[in-house]
Amino acid sequence: MASRQLVYLNGEFVPHSEARVSVEDRGFNFADGIYEVVRIVGGRGFRIEAHLDRFLGGARALEIELALSRDDIREAMLETARANGVDEGTVYVQLTRGAAPRRHAFPEGVRPTLVMLAQTFPGPSSSDREDGVSVITAPDLRWGYCEVKTIGLLPNVIAQQHAKCEGCYEALLIRDGRVTEASHSSAFCVRDGVIYTHPIDNILPGITRRFLIDAYRNEGVQVEERAVAVEDFRSADEVFLTGTTTEVMPVVGIDQAKVGTGKPGDITRLGMELYRRDLEAARTGGAG
Ligand code: PDD
Repeated sequence: MASRQLVYLNGEFVPHSEARVSVEDRGFNFADGIYEVVRIVGGRGFRIEAHLDRFLGGARALEIELALSRDDIREAMLETARANGVDEGTVYVQLTRGAAPRRHAFPEGVRPTLVMLAQTFPGPSSSDREDGVSVITAPDLRWGYCEVKTIGLLPNVIAQQHAKCEGCYEALLIRDGRVTEASHSSAFCVRDGVIYTHPIDNILPGITRRFLIDAYRNEGVQVEERAVAVEDFRSADEVFLTGTTTEVMPVVGIDQAKVGTGKPGDITRLGMELYRRDLEAARTGGAG
Protein backbone atom coordinates (compact mmCIF):
# COMPACT_ATOMS: atom_id res chain seq x y z
CA MET A 1 0.00 0.00 0.00
CA ALA A 2 2.57 2.59 1.14
CA SER A 3 4.43 2.80 -2.18
CA ARG A 4 1.25 3.55 -4.14
CA GLN A 5 -0.19 5.73 -1.45
CA LEU A 6 -0.78 9.39 -2.28
CA VAL A 7 0.07 11.84 0.46
CA TYR A 8 -1.43 15.30 0.74
CA LEU A 9 1.47 17.69 1.33
CA ASN A 10 0.82 21.44 1.44
CA GLY A 11 -1.89 21.44 -1.20
CA GLU A 12 -0.53 18.74 -3.49
CA PHE A 13 -0.86 14.99 -3.77
CA VAL A 14 2.50 13.27 -4.02
CA PRO A 15 3.44 9.57 -4.01
CA HIS A 16 4.32 8.41 -0.48
CA SER A 17 7.92 7.61 -1.49
CA GLU A 18 8.39 11.15 -2.82
CA ALA A 19 6.74 13.08 0.02
CA ARG A 20 9.45 15.14 1.74
CA VAL A 21 9.48 17.36 4.81
CA SER A 22 12.50 19.41 5.94
CA VAL A 23 14.81 18.07 8.66
CA GLU A 24 14.27 21.48 10.26
CA ASP A 25 10.52 21.09 10.39
CA ARG A 26 9.43 22.15 13.86
CA GLY A 27 7.28 19.07 14.13
CA PHE A 28 10.48 17.01 13.89
CA ASN A 29 12.58 19.27 16.16
CA PHE A 30 10.07 20.40 18.79
CA ALA A 31 6.83 18.38 18.31
CA ASP A 32 5.48 21.86 17.52
CA GLY A 33 2.20 20.85 15.92
CA ILE A 34 -1.18 19.18 16.16
CA TYR A 35 -2.99 16.26 14.56
CA GLU A 36 -6.35 14.62 14.05
CA VAL A 37 -7.47 11.11 13.18
CA VAL A 38 -10.77 11.20 11.26
CA ARG A 39 -12.77 8.06 10.53
CA ILE A 40 -14.08 7.58 6.98
CA VAL A 41 -17.25 5.49 6.60
CA GLY A 42 -18.94 4.88 3.27
CA GLY A 43 -16.54 7.47 1.80
CA ARG A 44 -17.85 10.15 4.19
CA GLY A 45 -16.11 11.88 7.06
CA PHE A 46 -17.52 10.59 10.37
CA ARG A 47 -18.11 13.48 12.81
CA ILE A 48 -15.86 15.52 10.55
CA GLU A 49 -17.21 18.89 11.77
CA ALA A 50 -16.26 18.07 15.37
CA HIS A 51 -12.76 17.09 14.19
CA LEU A 52 -12.49 20.36 12.24
CA ASP A 53 -13.57 22.32 15.35
CA ARG A 54 -10.90 20.64 17.48
CA PHE A 55 -8.23 20.97 14.80
CA LEU A 56 -8.87 24.67 14.16
CA GLY A 57 -9.12 25.28 17.92
CA GLY A 58 -5.74 23.59 18.42
CA ALA A 59 -4.15 25.69 15.65
CA ARG A 60 -5.50 28.85 17.33
CA ALA A 61 -4.25 27.72 20.75
CA LEU A 62 -0.74 27.20 19.37
CA GLU A 63 -0.95 30.34 17.19
CA ILE A 64 -0.27 28.43 13.99
CA GLU A 65 -1.73 30.45 11.14
CA LEU A 66 -3.40 28.42 8.45
CA ALA A 67 -3.77 29.87 4.96
CA LEU A 68 -6.59 27.36 4.27
CA SER A 69 -10.22 27.82 5.20
CA ARG A 70 -12.26 25.26 7.12
CA ASP A 71 -13.92 24.27 3.82
CA ASP A 72 -10.50 23.80 2.18
CA ILE A 73 -9.33 21.54 5.00
CA ARG A 74 -12.52 19.47 4.97
CA GLU A 75 -12.21 19.03 1.21
CA ALA A 76 -8.53 18.07 1.49
CA MET A 77 -9.37 15.41 4.12
CA LEU A 78 -12.06 13.87 1.93
CA GLU A 79 -9.96 14.16 -1.21
CA THR A 80 -7.08 12.36 0.56
CA ALA A 81 -9.44 9.46 1.26
CA ARG A 82 -10.82 9.48 -2.30
CA ALA A 83 -7.39 9.74 -3.96
CA ASN A 84 -6.37 6.59 -2.09
CA GLY A 85 -9.58 4.69 -2.72
CA VAL A 86 -10.30 4.65 1.02
CA ASP A 87 -14.02 4.19 1.61
CA GLU A 88 -13.68 2.64 5.07
CA GLY A 89 -10.67 3.93 6.93
CA THR A 90 -9.00 6.89 8.58
CA VAL A 91 -7.36 10.12 7.50
CA TYR A 92 -4.44 11.26 9.62
CA VAL A 93 -3.98 15.04 9.48
CA GLN A 94 -0.89 16.74 10.86
CA LEU A 95 -0.13 20.45 11.03
CA THR A 96 3.19 21.83 12.23
CA ARG A 97 4.50 25.37 12.53
CA GLY A 98 6.74 24.73 9.51
CA ALA A 99 10.46 24.56 8.78
CA ALA A 100 12.92 27.15 10.12
CA PRO A 101 16.42 27.24 11.67
CA ARG A 102 16.22 25.71 15.14
CA ARG A 103 15.34 28.47 17.63
CA HIS A 104 12.78 27.89 20.35
CA ALA A 105 10.65 31.01 19.78
CA PHE A 106 8.14 30.98 16.92
CA PRO A 107 9.78 31.88 13.58
CA GLU A 108 8.19 34.66 11.51
CA GLY A 109 6.84 34.38 7.99
CA VAL A 110 7.08 30.60 7.86
CA ARG A 111 4.53 28.45 6.04
CA PRO A 112 3.02 25.73 8.26
CA THR A 113 3.41 22.13 7.08
CA LEU A 114 0.12 20.32 6.46
CA VAL A 115 0.23 16.59 5.78
CA MET A 116 -2.62 14.10 5.35
CA LEU A 117 -2.48 10.32 4.92
CA ALA A 118 -5.38 7.95 4.34
CA GLN A 119 -5.47 4.28 5.21
CA THR A 120 -8.01 1.51 5.23
CA PHE A 121 -9.40 0.66 8.68
CA PRO A 122 -12.24 -1.82 9.16
CA GLY A 123 -12.80 -0.99 12.86
CA PRO A 124 -11.43 -2.64 16.00
CA SER A 125 -11.17 -6.42 16.18
CA SER A 126 -14.53 -8.10 16.70
CA SER A 127 -13.10 -10.54 19.28
CA ASP A 128 -11.83 -7.60 21.38
CA ARG A 129 -15.27 -6.02 21.19
CA GLU A 130 -17.07 -9.24 22.10
CA ASP A 131 -14.77 -10.45 24.87
CA GLY A 132 -13.42 -7.13 26.13
CA VAL A 133 -9.78 -6.17 26.62
CA SER A 134 -7.33 -5.80 29.49
CA VAL A 135 -5.48 -2.64 30.45
CA ILE A 136 -2.62 -1.62 32.70
CA THR A 137 -2.37 1.53 34.80
CA ALA A 138 0.45 4.02 34.23
CA PRO A 139 1.31 7.47 35.57
CA ASP A 140 -0.03 10.35 33.46
CA LEU A 141 3.26 12.09 32.68
CA ARG A 142 1.86 14.62 30.21
CA TRP A 143 1.98 18.40 30.25
CA GLY A 144 -0.59 21.03 31.22
CA TYR A 145 -2.38 21.48 27.87
CA CYS A 146 -3.80 18.05 27.15
CA GLU A 147 -6.89 19.72 25.60
CA VAL A 148 -4.66 20.42 22.59
CA LYS A 149 -4.18 17.36 20.38
CA THR A 150 -0.46 17.89 20.07
CA ILE A 151 1.88 15.56 18.20
CA GLY A 152 4.07 15.55 21.35
CA LEU A 153 2.91 12.05 22.31
CA LEU A 154 5.97 10.58 24.01
CA PRO A 155 4.26 9.98 27.40
CA ASN A 156 1.35 8.32 25.54
CA VAL A 157 3.75 6.26 23.45
CA ILE A 158 5.64 5.02 26.52
CA ALA A 159 2.42 4.13 28.36
CA GLN A 160 1.12 2.24 25.30
CA GLN A 161 4.42 0.39 24.92
CA HIS A 162 4.20 -0.77 28.55
CA ALA A 163 0.63 -1.95 27.87
CA LYS A 164 1.80 -3.86 24.79
CA CYS A 165 4.64 -5.51 26.76
CA GLU A 166 2.03 -6.73 29.27
CA GLY A 167 -0.13 -8.07 26.44
CA CYS A 168 -2.72 -5.37 27.12
CA TYR A 169 -4.78 -3.17 24.83
CA GLU A 170 -4.37 0.15 26.62
CA ALA A 171 -2.96 2.02 29.60
CA LEU A 172 -5.21 3.94 31.96
CA LEU A 173 -3.38 7.16 32.87
CA ILE A 174 -3.33 8.11 36.55
CA ARG A 175 -2.85 11.66 37.84
CA ASP A 176 -3.12 12.38 41.60
CA GLY A 177 -4.60 8.92 42.14
CA ARG A 178 -7.38 9.49 39.61
CA VAL A 179 -7.94 8.13 36.11
CA THR A 180 -7.68 10.95 33.54
CA GLU A 181 -8.09 8.97 30.29
CA ALA A 182 -6.02 6.36 28.43
CA SER A 183 -2.99 6.63 26.13
CA HIS A 184 -5.11 6.97 22.98
CA SER A 185 -8.70 6.75 24.18
CA SER A 186 -11.11 8.20 26.76
CA ALA A 187 -11.93 6.17 29.91
CA PHE A 188 -15.25 5.52 31.66
CA CYS A 189 -16.37 3.42 34.61
CA VAL A 190 -19.85 2.35 35.70
CA ARG A 191 -20.82 2.06 39.37
CA ASP A 192 -24.37 1.27 40.53
CA GLY A 193 -25.79 2.23 37.13
CA VAL A 194 -24.04 5.63 36.97
CA ILE A 195 -21.31 6.33 34.40
CA TYR A 196 -18.28 8.38 35.44
CA THR A 197 -15.63 10.01 33.25
CA HIS A 198 -13.03 12.69 33.92
CA PRO A 199 -14.17 16.27 33.15
CA ILE A 200 -12.53 18.25 30.33
CA ASP A 201 -9.79 19.57 32.56
CA ASN A 202 -6.36 18.83 31.13
CA ILE A 203 -7.54 15.81 29.14
CA LEU A 204 -8.31 15.50 25.44
CA PRO A 205 -11.91 16.47 24.67
CA GLY A 206 -12.64 13.19 22.91
CA ILE A 207 -15.22 13.42 20.14
CA THR A 208 -16.43 9.86 20.76
CA ARG A 209 -16.55 10.65 24.52
CA ARG A 210 -18.85 13.63 23.87
CA PHE A 211 -21.12 11.61 21.59
CA LEU A 212 -21.44 8.80 24.15
CA ILE A 213 -22.17 11.13 27.07
CA ASP A 214 -25.04 12.73 25.11
CA ALA A 215 -26.29 9.43 23.69
CA TYR A 216 -26.40 7.76 27.14
CA ARG A 217 -28.20 10.74 28.66
CA ASN A 218 -30.77 10.56 25.84
CA GLU A 219 -31.37 6.95 26.89
CA GLY A 220 -31.91 8.06 30.49
CA VAL A 221 -28.56 6.77 31.78
CA GLN A 222 -26.89 9.09 34.31
CA VAL A 223 -23.41 10.30 33.33
CA GLU A 224 -21.19 12.28 35.72
CA GLU A 225 -18.15 14.16 34.41
CA ARG A 226 -16.13 13.72 37.57
CA ALA A 227 -12.59 12.53 38.32
CA VAL A 228 -12.69 9.03 39.80
CA ALA A 229 -9.98 7.28 41.85
CA VAL A 230 -8.19 4.37 40.22
CA GLU A 231 -9.47 2.13 43.07
CA ASP A 232 -13.02 2.99 42.00
CA PHE A 233 -12.16 1.89 38.45
CA ARG A 234 -10.74 -1.38 39.81
CA SER A 235 -13.89 -2.11 41.83
CA ALA A 236 -16.32 -0.77 39.19
CA ASP A 237 -19.13 -2.89 37.72
CA GLU A 238 -17.98 -1.99 34.21
CA VAL A 239 -15.14 -0.08 32.55
CA PHE A 240 -14.92 0.96 28.92
CA LEU A 241 -12.85 3.07 26.55
CA THR A 242 -13.92 5.25 23.63
CA GLY A 243 -12.13 6.78 20.64
CA THR A 244 -12.14 7.24 16.88
CA THR A 245 -10.28 3.97 16.29
CA THR A 246 -11.29 2.33 19.60
CA GLU A 247 -15.06 2.88 19.13
CA VAL A 248 -16.57 1.66 22.43
CA MET A 249 -14.34 -1.00 23.92
CA PRO A 250 -15.22 -3.03 27.01
CA VAL A 251 -12.43 -3.40 29.59
CA VAL A 252 -12.60 -6.66 31.54
CA GLY A 253 -9.23 -6.56 33.31
CA ILE A 254 -7.09 -3.92 35.03
CA ASP A 255 -3.52 -4.84 36.06
CA GLN A 256 -4.40 -8.54 35.76
CA ALA A 257 -7.43 -8.31 38.07
CA LYS A 258 -10.93 -8.91 36.77
CA VAL A 259 -13.33 -5.97 36.35
CA GLY A 260 -16.92 -6.78 37.41
CA THR A 261 -17.96 -10.18 36.08
CA GLY A 262 -14.97 -10.31 33.71
CA LYS A 263 -17.36 -9.92 30.77
CA PRO A 264 -18.62 -6.82 28.92
CA GLY A 265 -21.51 -5.36 30.93
CA ASP A 266 -24.98 -4.20 29.85
CA ILE A 267 -24.29 -0.46 29.98
CA THR A 268 -21.14 -0.90 27.91
CA ARG A 269 -23.10 -2.99 25.42
CA LEU A 270 -25.72 -0.26 25.18
CA GLY A 271 -22.96 2.26 24.37
CA MET A 272 -21.58 -0.06 21.71
CA GLU A 273 -25.03 -0.31 20.17
CA LEU A 274 -25.59 3.49 20.25
CA TYR A 275 -22.20 3.98 18.62
CA ARG A 276 -22.89 1.38 15.91
CA ARG A 277 -26.25 2.94 15.08
CA ASP A 278 -24.66 6.34 14.61
CA LEU A 279 -21.85 4.88 12.49
CA GLU A 280 -24.35 3.09 10.23
CA ALA A 281 -26.43 6.25 9.90
CA ALA A 282 -23.31 8.19 8.87
CA ARG A 283 -22.35 5.47 6.37
CA THR A 284 -25.65 5.84 4.58
CA GLY A 285 -25.67 9.62 4.73
CA GLY A 286 -27.69 10.29 7.87
CA ALA A 287 -26.19 11.53 11.14
CA GLY A 288 -22.51 11.72 11.96
N1 PDD B 1 -6.53 9.14 19.77
N2 PDD B 1 -7.62 10.51 24.53
C1 PDD B 1 -6.45 10.51 23.87
C2 PDD B 1 -5.20 10.77 24.65
C3 PDD B 1 -6.42 10.28 22.47
O1 PDD B 1 -5.25 10.29 21.81
C4 PDD B 1 -7.63 10.01 21.79
C5 PDD B 1 -7.66 9.77 20.31
C6 PDD B 1 -8.84 10.00 22.53
C7 PDD B 1 -10.16 9.78 21.88
O2 PDD B 1 -10.56 10.91 21.16
P1 PDD B 1 -11.55 10.82 19.92
O3 PDD B 1 -12.78 10.18 20.42
O4 PDD B 1 -11.76 12.25 19.54
O5 PDD B 1 -10.86 10.00 18.87
C8 PDD B 1 -8.79 10.27 23.90
C9 PDD B 1 -6.36 9.08 18.33
C10 PDD B 1 -7.39 8.26 17.66
C11 PDD B 1 -4.93 8.63 18.03
O6 PDD B 1 -4.03 9.19 18.64
O7 PDD B 1 -4.72 7.76 17.19
